[in-house]
Amino acid sequence: THVVTESCIRCKYTDCVDVCPVDCFREGPNMLVIDPDECIDCAVCIPECPVNAIYAEEDVPADQVAFIKLNTELSHAPGWKSITKRKPALPDAEEWKDKPGKLSELVK
Ligand code: F3S
Repeated sequence: THVVTESCIRCKYTDCVDVCPVDCFREGPNMLVIDPDECIDCAVCIPECPVNAIYAEEDVPADQVAFIKLNTELSHAPGWKSITKRKPALPDAEEWKDKPGKLSELVK
């Protein structure tokens, strides 16, 4: 599967969803995740993300491995729904895009 990591938090640019051939993205309040049951590992979403949030599972950086489980959990969490069309990024995305340590900002 592929995994959305911390950079997405408080940004949610959504460029990724437009190219997904299997509609595997799920949307929470301030982040998207990938449903590992649906992802076919095509990798087309990786270059679309302006903040490089998406990795193949085997390439997830060491400090981001917690997101592998988070993508699995949140993709089936109540309120996290399928998103298949791009929409405007969160209003303060530009301000947050380069900030490290955003995991505590994640709204589930
Ligand atoms: Fe998030 Fe990047 Fe998609 S910021 S919503 S993974 S384009």
